[in-house]
Amino acid sequence: MKGDYQVIDHSFDVVVVGAGGAGLRATFGMASSGLSTACLTKVFPTRSHTVAAQGGMSAALGNMGEDDWRFHMYDTVKGSDWLGDQDSIEYMCRNAPAAVYELEHYGVPFSRTEEGKIYQRAFGGMTTHYGEGQALRTCAAADRTGHAILHTLYQQALKHDAQFFIEFFALDLIMEDGECRGVIAIDMATGIIHRYRAKQVVLATGGYGRAYFSATSAHTCTGDGNAMVLRAGLPLQDMEFVQFHPTGIYGAGCLITEGARGEGGYLTNSEGERFMERYAPNAKDLASRDVVSRSMTIEINEGRGVGPDKDHIYLHLEHLGADLLDERLPGISESAQIFAGVDVTKEPIPVLPTVHYNMGGIPTNYHGEVLTLKDGDPDSVVPGLMAIGEAACVSVHGANRLGSNSLLDLIVFGRAAALRAKETVDPSEPIPSLPKDAGDATLARLDTLRYADGTRPTSEIRLEMQRTMQAHCAVFRTGEVMNQGVEKLAATAAEFANVKTSDRGLIWNTDLIETLELENMLAQAVVTMNSAANRNESRGAHARDDVPDRDDENWMKHTLTWCDDQHKTNIDYRPVHSYTMSDDVEYIKPKPRVY
Ligand code: FUM
Repeated sequence: MKGDYQVIDHSFDVVVVGAGGAGLRATFGMASSGLSTACLTKVFPTRSHTVAAQGGMSAALGNMGEDDWRFHMYDTVKGSDWLGDQDSIEYMCRNAPAAVYELEHYGVPFSRTEEGKIYQRAFGGMTTHYGEGQALRTCAAADRTGHAILHTLYQQALKHDAQFFIEFFALDLIMEDGECRGVIAIDMATGIIHRYRAKQVVLATGGYGRAYFSATSAHTCTGDGNAMVLRAGLPLQDMEFVQFHPTGIYGAGCLITEGARGEGGYLTNSEGERFMERYAPNAKDLASRDVVSRSMTIEINEGRGVGPDKDHIYLHLEHLGADLLDERLPGISESAQIFAGVDVTKEPIPVLPTVHYNMGGIPTNYHGEVLTLKDGDPDSVVPGLMAIGEAACVSVHGANRLGSNSLLDLIVFGRAAALRAKETVDPSEPIPSLPKDAGDATLARLDTLRYADGTRPTSEIRLEMQRTMQAHCAVFRTGEVMNQGVEKLAATAAEFANVKTSDRGLIWNTDLIETLELENMLAQAVVTMNSAANRNESRGAHARDDVPDRDDENWMKHTLTWCDDQHKTNIDYRPVHSYTMSDDVEYIKPKPRVY
């Protein structure tokens, strides 16, 4: 190694990596159960990407009309295109109302109805009576719900004395004999390496939207935990399912909440037509996201896009009036002004489907425990390792997530992980020691990148990867286009051996951190593209022009994909859980798609 590194050792019962909604909910749940709890985060907690969540959190409270968690469960299963695990979906939907009330009691300032109840708006795919009516199910704090939740959770975590390590970048899991023993991280301000031994590590590191060229995700969304799992020799699940949000601002990619359509907004093409009435006569503009994104793309591809290049669509809110926009959608009104120069009270917003969410991630059960395929057991728990939030694939979203089920997933499974840790981690037991060489390989990797002297700057390789993902793994896919993507990405990933960094320091070396992030994203991009090229059907967000039908006979299964350090992938499968958690509900049998 060329550099010298100072290493500091720590021990905790539990280490949570990530301080978004899921990470903070798990952190304070664990801390309040008497477990010594650390939370490592690469950004200040209240800057985690959950802060950008707008429209709300689903829960069948029935505050503004009839509702039932069973309707919510049905919608989520249908929205997932039947790939979701129904035991996990039952767990999430039946625990949703309690999760919202808990947040309310912690202090989340939800918007209110006239009677003072939590305000709930319409969202895509959320219905009553198993598809009959439109549910008002999404609990909102105007259009800044994530912001409100994140601040409240951080306050709770501080109250319960969790120890925060802020602006620390997690490098790798520390594994021994297939068990997780801890995690290694770098303090970005000082360059000091921190090794944590723990009884339980919880990955709450979010998605990897930034592997694409245009995403609603923050630049920090590089899926660092997912990549750590791949490097630990474990698989990721269902990575081919990447959600495009219908309404990213054209050009900038910033999110315009689905809540805008929930409040009565609608989409038009160049002929002024409300085209969603043709594609989804029942749900119209509030069909599920995969359906709306595909419909918009067809309109553009068939020459009915708007603007000089006919390459986007209009979202109209003008008719809603300034008062409603000011009260319920102030955040997106501001974003539209700043990023599109549009006054939403007078003009439509130019929008385009934009990468928004990763349905795939680290396979877990509904307790948050990480799973792998071992000795023929597809639900084998990896001791000492949990994953929650967008990093995890529980799988409650299957092939397509319904809007506002993400904030719910964060809170329900952050809480579930804390409850499980309370049962399984004994604070009176000693914390196992680390293997002798713990972290050596990680430091060698870090050192190589710190002194990397190739010919390709990090930004150049990153752009190449992002453009390939955007072009070859998009809203519509074909076998030919994805196979070309596999080849192109393999070439780009190989170029990483030729990367060039120029900052050799350790104090705030963002050149090094961005290069580590690129390495993480490359592995996930390769896994995504290969998993997509492998799935020979259309389901949810994976829409193949050349194989347009869903194939339950052959493809009702989760993809598991491993990736080695040479970016070679290996694919296997896990069965979808075709059973529920309790006897209160029956397994919901797959139906043909009707919108
Ligand atoms: O449109 C939105 O407000 C996003 C919500 C979500 O992704 O759940």
